[in-house]
Amino acid sequence: MSTQADPLRWPAEAIWASVVPEWPGFSIEILPEIDSTNTELMRRARNAVHDPILLLAERQTAGRGRLGRAWHGEVGHALTFSLGLPYQPQNWSGLSLAVGLSLAESLGPDIQLKWPNDLWRQQRKLGGILIEAASQGGKSYAVIGIGLNIQLPPTTDLRTPAAAIAEFWQGATAPMVLERITQPLLKALKEFETLGFAPLQQRFNARDALRGLKVQSSDALEGLCEGVDSQGALQILTNDGRQAINSSEVSVRAL
Ligand code: BTN
Repeated sequence: MSTQADPLRWPAEAIWASVVPEWPGFSIEILPEIDSTNTELMRRARNAVHDPILLLAERQTAGRGRLGRAWHGEVGHALTFSLGLPYQPQNWSGLSLAVGLSLAESLGPDIQLKWPNDLWRQQRKLGGILIEAASQGGKSYAVIGIGLNIQLPPTTDLRTPAAAIAEFWQGATAPMVLERITQPLLKALKEFETLGFAPLQQRFNARDALRGLKVQSSDALEGLCEGVDSQGALQILTNDGRQAINSSEVSVRAL
């Protein structure tokens, strides 16, 4: 009997067939290891490679999170990939919220969203999103990185307690999760490009993990969280009235 873990089998063809009608030229690339799928797609974008792609790495050696943080994920414990898309939305605001909403809706009714980029379940972090953009000759290219915990991470020293998909989806594997989320996500991204965030506002607010809670932002706003507006900005009712936070550089925590 082999003591090695089974290699992961990725349903790349089925996913490709479900996506390519809406995203002509779409390709899927699966690597055993890379520094970071976001970093790699940004490197390619700088070399004028702007085709629509899903780049997945079974292991990242330098995975990146928001606000310059690292993102850790062991093989089989996390699903880590980036979408690189030629992308020209009229308004970029709310894009990370739209991505999170699509993932949450694909994964289940009790998945919540913590503004602006996190998926939560039972007050723990299930995954995160890192969006970057490149532009060349007036055309823009979006790199949308997604990291989801499939199994609970082995490390216990995380700043935020972790949740995992296998806790509510028995037997879930990274390939199964990828197959479930990709086509709805790429459809949602097409819709966002023309319609923006406004049509998603109510659905986001229904899953907002901070709504109704007293919160504090990293730029020192404090008050009652009232959900997001039609642009995806977080509304906080402070002692000085309602204030909106729309910078993805700001983080917010419940008090
Ligand atoms: C966060 O929670 O701060 C965002 C995490 C985003 C992690 C994903 S994993 C795939 C892609 N490549 C990266 O280096 N980061 C994103």
